[in-house]
Amino acid sequence: MILIGTPVWAFDYCSAIRTFVTQGTRNIKNRLFCCHEGAKGKTFDHLQNVLSDNTIIGEMDFLNVQKHKKKIKESTELGSEPERQVIKFF
Ligand SMILES: Cc1cc2nc3c(=O)[nH]c(=O)nc-3n(C[C@H](O)[C@H](O)[C@H](O)COP(=O)(O)O)c2cc1C
Repeated sequence: MILIGTPVWAFDYCSAIRTFVTQGTRNIKNRLFCCHEGAKGKTFDHLQNVLSDNTIIGEMDFLNVQKHKKKIKESTELGSEPERQVIKFF
C-alpha cells in the first residue's frame, strides 16, 4: 500500500506528486490525502484518473494545516478526536 499526500496547488495535486503518479504504477493499493486552504478542487478526481490502473482505498483532506499546526499537534499529543480520525483512516 502507498500513502500519497499532496498540498493542493491551483485546485490540483502538486508537481512533485505528478512526477510520481505518472510513473505508470499498476495494481497498487493507495490511500490519498491532501492539505488545502478551503479549495481542494478536483485533486482527488484527478489522482483517481491518473491512478486508474491501481486501487484507491481511502481519501482524506486536511483544511488549514499551517494555520492550525499548533492546535493539531496539541490535539494529537492529547490523543483527541483528530488523532483518532487519522489513526482510523490509516
Ligand atoms: C502555489 C500554491 C497554490 C495553492 N493553491 C491552492 C488551491 O488551489 N486551493 C487551496 O485550498 N489551497 C491552495 N494553496 C495552499 C496550500 O494547499 C497550502 O499551503 C498547503 O496545503 C499547506 O502545505 P505546505 O505547508 O506544504 O504548503 C496553494 C499554495 C501554493 C503555494
